[in-house]
Amino acid sequence: MESAPEGIVDLPPIGPEPILRLATLVCQTEVMHAALELGVFGSLAEGSLTEPELRERLGLHERFSKDFLDALAGLGLLIRVGDRYRNAPVAGHYLVPGQGVYLGDYPRMVTASFQQAWGQLSRGLRTGKVETQPRGGFVAKSHEDQARFTVYAGVMDHLSTRVARDFAERFDWSGYKDVGDLGGARGHLAAALLEAHPHLSGYCFEPPSAERYLKGHMAELGMAGRVGFVGGDLFTDPIPEADVLVYGQVLHGWEDEERRTLVRRAHEALRPGGMLLVYDRMIDEERRDQQRLLYSLYMRLVSPMGSEYRAVDCERWLREAGFPDVRSEPLLNTHTVVVGLKSREEEQEGAEARVPAAGGGGGGPPPPPPVLMPSLSPGSRSFPRCPGCLRGAGHCLPPSRGRPVRGPGRPRSAAEASSGTARRRGP
Ligand SMILES: C[S@@+](CC[C@H](N)C(=O)[O-])C[C@H]1O[C@@H](n2cnc3c(N)ncnc32)[C@H](O)[C@@H]1O
Repeated sequence: MESAPEGIVDLPPIGPEPILRLATLVCQTEVMHAALELGVFGSLAEGSLTEPELRERLGLHERFSKDFLDALAGLGLLIRVGDRYRNAPVAGHYLVPGQGVYLGDYPRMVTASFQQAWGQLSRGLRTGKVETQPRGGFVAKSHEDQARFTVYAGVMDHLSTRVARDFAERFDWSGYKDVGDLGGARGHLAAALLEAHPHLSGYCFEPPSAERYLKGHMAELGMAGRVGFVGGDLFTDPIPEADVLVYGQVLHGWEDEERRTLVRRAHEALRPGGMLLVYDRMIDEERRDQQRLLYSLYMRLVSPMGSEYRAVDCERWLREAGFPDVRSEPLLNTHTVVVGLKSREEEQEGAEARVPAAGGGGGGPPPPPPVLMPSLSPGSRSFPRCPGCLRGAGHCLPPSRGRPVRGPGRPRSAAEASSGTARRRGP
């Protein structure tokens, strides 16, 4: 065996900086955690302060304080002008307790979840198996941990508000009567869409355990009675008919076979001319987007069969299900939405399966051809880098494999769902 060369070795032609940067990424997260814990952003809510003023107010030791504050400025969370520090806009909007949208509890929660999940990566890579914890969503049990659920739901609602605002502007809703959010958590997306377009009615489909959360949340929003609740299993229970159906971050909880089933069931439940919106952190066609791939790995670490998937594959599942018109577009810089327009021609089979909705559902003529508004973020299939993700994923438990998927049964309408007549047994 050759012995190692003595003396100074020849240096490679490139430096090791990318490796050093990756090795130290955790420092950035820890500095943000400390700032939240110590109340830096709240202290700067009223205006700028100098380092000695902040040091005194926060009780910092002078050995650390200047580096700490300047590091926060370097991370883009503070702005230093001369010897004064103030909150950067993003910190002012999201990290000041009691002001604006507060997301400051979220980093701690997501870091704890990441540590648990990513610690299993090597094992997962070797065996294909990981220990999945009960996670968010209403299929698992984590909503029963009230403190955790409050933080989680707040972040999810914030994301849903942004998605709803985008959808409200991106599509022309004047031709649609109702919308169903399938796996819609506590109904926030549907509520935000109904608020933006008051002529719409809507429902949220979740396991029955989610009903009290939806009712409580709607009451808080002043939307009581506006968003109906349908309790059931998306794989086995009838999905009420609607003009528009949404799967938001639902398909990433399963594998392709289940995804196809979900898309097919949505197609069956849509009225002719209706629209399906599927959004997730979908992977680009060439599988090069680092953030999306990391999220996909994370899904594999926290769920037994989940992962992100390519937008082109999702488009194909929609075409296979019968959507003649399918496209994908970037959403919020972090997600992709695949849009499927159902044919306006009623197939015989679909016509028989669908029962005209009671009370203003599907009895009328099919909606006029939907007008897709110009995309807010032009260039479909371009996948901008994620500037920082709002939430972890992997909140769904899989359906039991091999369980027969029932036909659509008697579909119900959003109006019926609102009146609470459509409730069914859960999974
Ligand atoms: C990751 S969460 C997404 C929630 C919401 N759409 C959003 O984007 O914030 C997935 C949701 O799907 C629901 N879900 C998962 N499997 C389901 C099933 N088989 N039937 C009904 N709902 C289900 C879960 O309870 C959970 O709330």
